[in-house]
Amino acid sequence: MDDVLRIRGGKPLEGKISLPGAKNAINKLLIASLLSDQPSIFTNVPNIGEVEITVALCREIGSQVHWNRQEGVLEIVTRELNTSYVPQRFCGANRIPILMIGALLGRTDQDIIVPTVGGDRIGRRPIDFHLQALRQLGASIEYRSMKKEGAYFAQAHDGLTGALITLPFPSVGATENTILAAVRARGETVIKNAAIEPEIVDLILYLRNLGANITLDVDRTIHIQGTRKFYPVQHRVIPDRIVAASMASAAIATKGRVFVEGAEHLHLITFLNKLREVGGGFQVREEGIEFFYDGPLQGGLHLETDVHPGFMTDWQQPFVVLLTQAHGVSVVHETVYENRFGYTDALKQMGAELEIFKQCLGGKECRYASQGHNHSLIVKGATPLKGGKITIPDLRAGFAYVMAALLSQEESHIYGLPYLERGYENLIENLKGLGADIEIIAPSKVEV
Ligand code: EPU
Repeated sequence: MDDVLRIRGGKPLEGKISLPGAKNAINKLLIASLLSDQPSIFTNVPNIGEVEITVALCREIGSQVHWNRQEGVLEIVTRELNTSYVPQRFCGANRIPILMIGALLGRTDQDIIVPTVGGDRIGRRPIDFHLQALRQLGASIEYRSMKKEGAYFAQAHDGLTGALITLPFPSVGATENTILAAVRARGETVIKNAAIEPEIVDLILYLRNLGANITLDVDRTIHIQGTRKFYPVQHRVIPDRIVAASMASAAIATKGRVFVEGAEHLHLITFLNKLREVGGGFQVREEGIEFFYDGPLQGGLHLETDVHPGFMTDWQQPFVVLLTQAHGVSVVHETVYENRFGYTDALKQMGAELEIFKQCLGGKECRYASQGHNHSLIVKGATPLKGGKITIPDLRAGFAYVMAALLSQEESHIYGLPYLERGYENLIENLKGLGADIEIIAPSKVEV
């Protein structure tokens, strides 16, 4: 049985942390490096489980990788592909393997085989937009049932040709997959209604250095000019804006003060606006952003998650925990995933006053209106939280539970640590450094 996280809360978080590179940028950059046989050197690489998985996947495909975890420097080069078959063991953990299709279609004549992809259980998470866009570029992709699970078989024996692609929704993954495939396609690809998250812009910057010509218009349109001429690249991974907002929420909810070194103002605008509305303190400095408790928090807030530049769906969980400490009733409408409030049951058991609704609450109807998904939430605060024995269901819920436990005066036990290790570098050490009473214990040490 896995180890358990024991937290005795009630202490303000105080001090400084350094922001690692973004999980949702580096994993895509590593896959993008497979487009060429040129070396790439990435800096600011987070030392987290998800990067380990992607590195192992790239090695399987044929990459040589040197990763200095202390320095956060990772060199990768893929002179030749060993295989274009993604083993099943890489496919349960996250959404990265599906991007192999976009990255490898233009590089090999072989079938690219990707077993059904997994990822956190936060909705159905189909890949129809990916498949449709790749087919428009000339790929032939079919799903075949195999012994245990099915797999996608993709190839483009006649090469890929640029096309005009309009995504039905600005999906991050579908935009990335399409950009990757378009880099080696003949002619120009235009993606309309593309995702424009900072992690996508980071990918575009990397690909431009690699040799592709890519422009991003203000109206969610991305133009990619295909190329076969590539160059070595050095690239610094953007800081993790999800970790930044998570630590900020925890600092303020615990009535503390934390300087988040490396936090990027431009990537956090919508978060900072909501923080100000609720009465959380922050000061943007040259080296990062300081977050601090600035008096009682005020609820009465309406929050709607959205694609960039909207309020990120991955900021929602720590912000909901923050709202449990704000006076008044707040409304949270999740419009990106249909099933991202599953984690709130455990918060209720800890004393949070939360009510879930199938309707779209707040200003506008989203694409989940009348579909029966639990995608709106009412939070009543401020409520003291009790300790709990909680099992983490997904990565971002995991941080919300840690944060709730940090707020409780009682002891909490959190199970499912590997989820946290997948996405948060040195989380436990960092929290300890900020004064939290937190440690990993063996399951046998948990008193019942
Ligand atoms: N969607 C479809 N069809 C598709 C693709 C997406 O219906 O073909 C739907 C999804 O089901 C979802 C919505 O579109 O309802 C948005 O999905 P998107 O493709 O944008 O998400 P993703 O690429 O699978 C990435 C991050 C998520 C983050 C979302 C939104 C990675 C590895 N994952 O997922 O991060 O929440 O974008 O910003 O980059 C996390 O880090 O914990 C995490 C879940």
